[in-house]
Amino acid sequence: MTDSNATAVVGLQWGDEGKGKIVDLLTAEHDIIVRYNGGANAGHTVVVDGERYALHLIPSGMLQEGRTCVIGNGVVVDPAMLVQEIDGLLERGIDVSPQRLLVSDRAHVVMPYHKEHDAAMERVLADAAGQGDENLSIGTTKRGIGPTYADKVHRSMAIRMGDLLDPAVLRKRLDVVCAIRSRELEALGVDVPQLDPASLADEYARIGRRLAPHVVDTVYWLHDAANDGRRILFEGANACLLDIDHGTFPYVTSSSCSALGIPAGTGLPGRAIDSVVGIVKAYGTRVGEGPFPTEDLGECGERIRERGHEYGTATGRPRRCGWLDLVAVRYSAMICGTTSLAVMLLDVLSGFDELKLCTGYRLPDGSVSDRFIPDARRLANVTPIYETLPGWTEDLTAIRDGDALPRTAHAYLDRIAAFTNCPIGVISVGPDRKQTIRLSEPQHCLGGP
Ligand code: GDP
Ligand code: IMO
Ligand code: MG
Repeated sequence: MTDSNATAVVGLQWGDEGKGKIVDLLTAEHDIIVRYNGGANAGHTVVVDGERYALHLIPSGMLQEGRTCVIGNGVVVDPAMLVQEIDGLLERGIDVSPQRLLVSDRAHVVMPYHKEHDAAMERVLADAAGQGDENLSIGTTKRGIGPTYADKVHRSMAIRMGDLLDPAVLRKRLDVVCAIRSRELEALGVDVPQLDPASLADEYARIGRRLAPHVVDTVYWLHDAANDGRRILFEGANACLLDIDHGTFPYVTSSSCSALGIPAGTGLPGRAIDSVVGIVKAYGTRVGEGPFPTEDLGECGERIRERGHEYGTATGRPRRCGWLDLVAVRYSAMICGTTSLAVMLLDVLSGFDELKLCTGYRLPDGSVSDRFIPDARRLANVTPIYETLPGWTEDLTAIRDGDALPRTAHAYLDRIAAFTNCPIGVISVGPDRKQTIRLSEPQHCLGGP
């Protein structure tokens, strides 16, 4: 799929497309795996020989020996969760030594009050909706993502990983921040004891000491590595339609999760990226609030959820399910500069008589458009226009050769490639690393009828 020196893996829908599985797979051909956006809102699942790993902050490349994983400056790091995640992997025999996991000293820190703030805002907004207003609660993961990025942009209240290594600086900062944050949380109706800067500073300085060997200037480190010819894999978290600028605003996350976030989130220029693998689930899912034109609230959606085990990796919430929206995928592929697609979870669609692909939207004025609308209110008013393709009954999970797929599956894949104008390089037919069909070259046509 890629013989490039720098490859990006990005989700082209609303997340959970199977990015973790593809990052794990492509790690074999890269030396360094870098996260550039998001935080512990991500849940990336990798299954190796039946062993399941759920990663939130640590790049999915960690599971292959001899690779270095980097948490870039664009990520927001919950350091307590990071320590938990490191310990969880150590317990399972994975080497997470400081040589193998680097964390940017400029990555912003998610503090407990960010999570309180996230949850409180969601409660307040949902209550307001109960009184008849538009529901502006986002359905966040409550991992403190929005408030932490807000502090980053707001500057004065922010804490970065490097600050955790200097207890005096941390304490001074927290004295001010806690006083202000306590008042804000109180105004949001949070019944919290006053935030105590002394104990918070102690606790986070201790976590800082634990993580210190991992914390470096990752920007220079990455440039040095690139100059030495080391191959870099960028791991997108969340997904393009959740991008703060290009997603279904305001029902998005707070970072640049498309491929456009890579330069800012790592310090490497855009021209450093040779190829972009767009990850597409063979159907649609979404977690949280926001428009989802192809959502199926009936039996088909339920069937997809059960067959695909569509429950969140980060929060356990049932994912909303529906048909594949090619208008949305083509838009995301365009934004991300996608050079090939990996089509995931194709096995889940076995057993449907017919499969629907959305290839246009009917707008409220009756006109038809094949352009995506990255605005929640306007997107909520479109009606999807579908093409219907025949399904297949065969179980695909043991297939390892593209030619062995049913002809109707070829036709389904060919339509995805043709509509998005992106060749397909990988087809995934099960969660395990082995349940993967890799084509020797990305193809526009697999030879459907
Ligand atoms: P990510 O956030 O994009 O990394 O995706 P998640 O890990 O949150 O969700 C994808 C889910 O689908 C995980 O449970 C994977 O183990 C699983 N998965 C990945 N590829 C396939 C596939 O081809 N078939 C099936 N049935 N499951 C898959
Ligand atoms: P991965 O990397 C699916 C969604 C949340 C919510 C919105 C904002 O596993 O694909 P946030 O907590 O980020 O402020 O929530 O974005 N969301 C995801 N949905 N997969 C993800 O990540 C997501 N990351 C954020 O459900 O609707
Ligand atoms: Mg996920």
